[in-house]
Amino acid sequence: MTCKLAPSILAADVTNFGDQIRQIEKAGADYVHIDVMDGVFVPNLSFGIPIVEGLRDCTKLFFDVHLMIVNPIEHIRAFAEAGADGITVHAEACEGNLDDTIDEIIRYGIKPAVAIRPDTPIDPILPVLDKLSMVLVMTVYPGYGGQKIITDTFSKIRKLREIIDEKGLSVDIEVDGGITLDNITEVREAGANVFVAGTQVFKGSISENVKLFKEKLT
Ligand code: DX5
Ligand code: ZN
Repeated sequence: MTCKLAPSILAADVTNFGDQIRQIEKAGADYVHIDVMDGVFVPNLSFGIPIVEGLRDCTKLFFDVHLMIVNPIEHIRAFAEAGADGITVHAEACEGNLDDTIDEIIRYGIKPAVAIRPDTPIDPILPVLDKLSMVLVMTVYPGYGGQKIITDTFSKIRKLREIIDEKGLSVDIEVDGGITLDNITEVREAGANVFVAGTQVFKGSISENVKLFKEKLT
């Protein structure tokens, strides 16, 4: 399965977003990971629709929008119109309407994905798996960049990869949180193929970091 690198702009320099995104694109990143936080689903606030819309002009890279918000179904249309290519919603934020939320994402021609926190089992994903482009297994508790990876989550990655392969589906498994050059190979071996990295991409030389990560994924 093809591996992809998705740098998270949560760790980028806000005074220089456009330039930093152009740098990751030039260096070979595959996606731009955009972390949207509402201060309710997670105890932190980040950015929203105007940032997605504003950045859309500076790159052709796939916009991988990670919604850490309550009631995401109410905001799908706005993110679609702003230029999202993929939208990830949290299973924990869609109790009772996960199916409808995924349908809403599909309706706008956007690739749908569902995320689970480290303490959420894979169970809510299974009934909707065949509709998804991607599953996001959070490897830290969502809300902040720069945390240490929780390796207990690897068993969920293994199980999901097994189920996806058994069913003959082509669903990506993304991991997000605490990914470094030292642990990415182990996470890949567990079955993940889309890797979010924030701090480790934007700290120091961005292009060098992207190249080093991409080398690990070839
Ligand atoms: C955490 C976010 C992550 C975060 C990853 O809530 O979803 O995307 O920015 O950052 P690092 O790679 O620094 O752990
Ligand atoms: Zn994220």
